[in-house]
Amino acid sequence: MQYVSCFVEGTISESYPGFKGMDDVKIKTQEDLQAAIMVIDDDPITLKNLRSILEKVGHSVSTFRDPIRALKSLDESPCDLVISDVRMPGLDGLSVMERIKGRFPHTEIILITGFASIDGAVDATKRGAYHYLSKPFTPEELRRVVSDAVREKTMREQAEASVINGPVIIGDSLKIREIEDLILKIAPLDCNVLITGDSGTGKELVARSIHSHSSRADKPFVAFNCGGFSEDLIANELFGHEKDAFTGARSRKIGIIETANKGTLFLDEVGEMPLSMQVKLLRVLQERELMRVGGVNPVPLDIRVVAATARELKVAAAEGVFRQDLYFRLNVINIAMPRLSERKEDIPLLVYHFLYKFQRRTGKAVKAVSAGAMNVLSSYAYPGNVRELENIMERALALCDGNTIQIRDLPPDLGKVELYYFDRPDSSLMTLEELERDYIRHILVIAGGVKSDAARILGIDRVSLWRRMKKHGLE
Ligand SMILES: Nc1ncnc2c1ncn2[C@@H]1O[C@H](COP(=O)(O)OP(=O)(O)OP(=O)(O)O)[C@@H](O)[C@H]1O
Ligand SMILES: [Mg+2]
Repeated sequence: MQYVSCFVEGTISESYPGFKGMDDVKIKTQEDLQAAIMVIDDDPITLKNLRSILEKVGHSVSTFRDPIRALKSLDESPCDLVISDVRMPGLDGLSVMERIKGRFPHTEIILITGFASIDGAVDATKRGAYHYLSKPFTPEELRRVVSDAVREKTMREQAEASVINGPVIIGDSLKIREIEDLILKIAPLDCNVLITGDSGTGKELVARSIHSHSSRADKPFVAFNCGGFSEDLIANELFGHEKDAFTGARSRKIGIIETANKGTLFLDEVGEMPLSMQVKLLRVLQERELMRVGGVNPVPLDIRVVAATARELKVAAAEGVFRQDLYFRLNVINIAMPRLSERKEDIPLLVYHFLYKFQRRTGKAVKAVSAGAMNVLSSYAYPGNVRELENIMERALALCDGNTIQIRDLPPDLGKVELYYFDRPDSSLMTLEELERDYIRHILVIAGGVKSDAARILGIDRVSLWRRMKKHGLE
């Protein structure tokens, strides 16, 4: 009786130490994620309670009964997060939020209220609140919401930095760190590199990164896709031709390989190259010179070749459809790109990276991803790897009409529970009761344990959710 997909794996509640590959961005670990928090509430007992709950986990907390004085104090010492009551004499929580967001757009706001309504929550989050916490809540609930908010803020800032600093390989999984180490090690060596991996895993990105860490960084990086060209066309494109080399060749044409001289030549989908071209390419790599079509004088070459393929070249070489000698020459160093599903822990970082990328492009003020949406994103299998995630985020940003990406902004089949219940042997068919229990459990995980969110997804109120959880022993 299990769901095929595991939703607990790689959720936002796990640690994600930060981005790698950017020396100038300080990498934050989870232990660092302690924040400066301001709490505003007209009730001194609430202030005292919240302070003690949050200080216990290492946050530094300032408390204010008067919202106006709180705002004044922010000018002198800005903070990461403001937790504010909604109903207060003087200035209400929503106005406090508006003023803070106007001046400190990076400060997160959590609103607290004793008069929760779904509309109020939706309105508050649309207007920029990170979360809308209704009383009563447990210390754990508060700490979790706070730590999610602080973590997201950190991720966002790092994602922004990464977009500003140009292309970087996002990810902090062991696999990505190993790849980064390898890139740094081999980039200066000028050896040929073969990058293998499924579509959308980041092969071209790695090729660019090798180039940018090499002594050729200020010389051209020229990419050529070897698939989908006829032999003649490839020869012409890659090697260029002399004037009058064939009918119609009215002037000399410099080929792709030559334009990459002194720089890096990236041969994408190299496994698709016709055999006859492979011979010619091998000759170029061996002789370090090239002959234009119809030419008589060889042109000396100084290029580094980085090739990529989604095909098993070793197998292709064994089967005779790819030249073994060329394979060996290209494959001096092999970098094997993992599938995204093999490094799920990188998903939240990538999500924020793309959020910022498209936010800058579209100018939309979408700043966050709800915990539920992050859970759905973290549990999907991504057959199209990082490129698919990138497309999903682009779509989500286009559809999002608040400042937070919600589950409804994701493709509908993404969060679908894969219920393999229907083709089970009769002996293990489930009762409706069991199905309900599993489904509620599943939605609770998706909603990151936030019961009000889970209730909203399930279309029932909090009380009946609570009643059903109790019935199924899910507390
Ligand atoms: N680790 C990563 N960090 C940030 N962006 C990434 C990462 N991996 C891939 N991308 C992005 O995903 C998209 C696809 O990556 P890329 O084109 O490098 O994949 P590929 O392996 O060459 O795919 P294909 O085989 O389909 O050509 C690009 O927009 C790239 O910038
Ligand atoms: Mg590619």
